[in-house]
Amino acid sequence: MSQFPSSPNYEDIPELLKSFSKVQTERLRFRPLEISDQQNLFAIMSDPEVSKYNRWDVHQSISQSEEYIQAALDLYAQGQYLEWAVCQADNQLIGFFGIVWWMPDYASVELGFSLNRAYWNRGLISEALTALIHWGFSEMKINRFEAQCEINNVPSQRVLEKLGWSCEGTLRERVYFKESFRNMKLYSLLKTDYQNSDFWQLQHSL
Ligand SMILES: CC(C)(COP(=O)(O)OP(=O)(O)OC[C@H]1O[C@@H](n2cnc3c(N)ncnc32)[C@H](O)[C@@H]1OP(=O)(O)O)[C@@H](O)C(=O)NCCC(=O)NCCS
Repeated sequence: MSQFPSSPNYEDIPELLKSFSKVQTERLRFRPLEISDQQNLFAIMSDPEVSKYNRWDVHQSISQSEEYIQAALDLYAQGQYLEWAVCQADNQLIGFFGIVWWMPDYASVELGFSLNRAYWNRGLISEALTALIHWGFSEMKINRFEAQCEINNVPSQRVLEKLGWSCEGTLRERVYFKESFRNMKLYSLLKTDYQNSDFWQLQHSL
């Protein structure tokens, strides 16, 4: 079967994914989720406005947030460091983001992201995604990032558009959540798009 030749070896993937926690931005730190994040995660996952266009249902109790973290810890134990806490310098979780799926053979991944509503519209998720994308193209040898946004989810579309992603179209009734089929906009960013963008020029002029 064909395989993108620059993709990392499967046995190197756990250490590679783990190394993302060394990445920092001016305002943000990234690390694996921890059980002690349960209160901060619950603040996000119990908020109907955050859940509105996401597939997960609003958390009704803190134990649901703890179970969510435990599921992530189980995946970390298998070397799958795919979901990350987004923290400020004090190490407190204010959001979470990461990889929904990764196909190393095709060098493609899908990303997802959510932030505590108290921190919206300060450019924080754009800052986090810029770091993850740069790391993904450089270290994971990704060729194509994807993200899906429910058609009414304007802020998430705006985030991707201002980072230079392209909307490839609408996937009609692609998913079912919160009692209805949802039309999803499919966005992508190719490595060549990124290399031609100001973000790449900026990183390489440092
Ligand atoms: C999507 C989300 C993560 C964005 O995080 P954020 O840190 O606020 O994003 P940013 O500040 O980097 O950018 C948000 C942009 O959307 C714009 N925006 C926000 N609400 C908007 C609205 N109702 N109409 C138009 N633009 C809007 C902001 O002005 C900003 O654009 P600008 O920088 O050009 O002014 C956050 O809104 C969130 O957690 N939403 C709920 C979870 C979710 O839907 N996740 C995405 C699943 S695909």
